[in-house]
Amino acid sequence: MENKAWRDSTRRSLRRVLKEKIVSQANHLAGILDLDVALPHHYLPLQALARARGVDPQKYLRGLGCHKMAVCAPGEDTVTLAAQAAYRLLQRHPLARQRVGLCVVGTESGIDHAKPVSILVHGLLGLPHQCRTFDIKHACYGATAALQTALAWVQQHPKQLALVIASDIARYPRLSPGEPTQGAGSVAMLVHADSSPSLLSFPFSSGIHASHVHDFWRPNYNHTAIVDGKFSLQCYLAALKAAYLDFCEKNQQTPQPDFFLFHAPFPRMAHKAYRSLAPLLSPHNKHFSFLEEGLSSQVLPALWPNREVGNLYTGSLYLSLAGLREHLQPPHTSQHVAFFSYGSGSCSEFFLGKLHPSPRSHTPLRAILDARVPIDVPTYEAFCEQTLALETNQTSLPSLAPLPSQPFSFLGILNHKRQYRDNTNAAIRCA
Ligand code: COA
Repeated sequence: MENKAWRDSTRRSLRRVLKEKIVSQANHLAGILDLDVALPHHYLPLQALARARGVDPQKYLRGLGCHKMAVCAPGEDTVTLAAQAAYRLLQRHPLARQRVGLCVVGTESGIDHAKPVSILVHGLLGLPHQCRTFDIKHACYGATAALQTALAWVQQHPKQLALVIASDIARYPRLSPGEPTQGAGSVAMLVHADSSPSLLSFPFSSGIHASHVHDFWRPNYNHTAIVDGKFSLQCYLAALKAAYLDFCEKNQQTPQPDFFLFHAPFPRMAHKAYRSLAPLLSPHNKHFSFLEEGLSSQVLPALWPNREVGNLYTGSLYLSLAGLREHLQPPHTSQHVAFFSYGSGSCSEFFLGKLHPSPRSHTPLRAILDARVPIDVPTYEAFCEQTLALETNQTSLPSLAPLPSQPFSFLGILNHKRQYRDNTNAAIRCA
């Protein structure tokens, strides 16, 4: 009898602990608190590139969906773009800096085999010393891996914040089919699990798919990527289907999102993705008009900045998120958003987020895009050569003038150490 009473009381207290744990987890639903974007100061209109390459401009504009391509000038690199996006974000959240306990950069255009971009950003921003910093790499999936790591970490450390940055420069060889799908930029996100309202929360489990394929890669000795273009598109679509089905199985439901955000190495890829997913989303509705209506109402509202920037590799998906936030002017109701993140090689994830009306003002993406300066093809080619010379230690530019509103500049390499200037107080930092 005594034994039974003891067993019952233990069961009751276990049940109570479990219930409390569930409630406390619900109170600390991790999410993205806010995000910001940094882009190179210059862009190349793709009509000009098409003319220079003897290609019908409609192939780039309509066939690939690319209108403009962000181009880095000397002084801009993966680190300065990452630090600029995070700097903007932290300027809007001045109390957040001291709470950052994790700084992760998702990138596939790292600047050193050993030293991560994250520690350079940590130094430039003056983040706390009690902070874990590292980079995550898996092609364009890196930022999603970083985000998922941060979401799990903040659940364990709800008083702290995680800074997640996607930063990349997409480089293909000149005259190659990939050339018009280059681009660059960075998206910084603050991830939290405290009681302040999230911009985006993630109440569902993700669908995952990994498979070893040689569709796109960049050997250590290469400055530009190698891509088996057509094969990479097949790998992407196969991974999308597999990750989507895994999502449905794990959550025992088919998602009914208001919007779809797809990784966009070039904007038309998102059209292809939506069209290939449509038979699974709505098996009984095969009408073309239904498909086109879905595309324009559920996909295109997020894709507008990608058309004007090109490929950000890890940041492409999150640039679309910034685009969707701007499209949904407040006040709007919370929207379900489906994300598909694909990293060649490959690892991919299909996940669902709840996008809440943005409680804060932010740097308008439209204004960031409009502040850029167009360049011609000879200038684009000269920038590529000058940035390569800086990266490979052939030259340095210690007195390089900062670009407008550029908080940090890359000046070259001295004694094998990268040199950055903090333009906000003119200090040279050797990283
Ligand atoms: N007017 C309008 N559309 C045109 C056109 C014209 N004059 N000429 C071609 N097009 C269309 C084609 O029909 C095609 O569209 P579709 O795919 O819907 O059929 C599109 O433009 C591209 O043309 P294509 O001949 O396939 O181009 P390509 O052989 O030069 O290569 C890629 C295209 C995408 C393979 C190439 O740009 C690439 O390798 N990009 C990088 C791939 C990548 O990022 N992979 C990573 C996946 S995450």
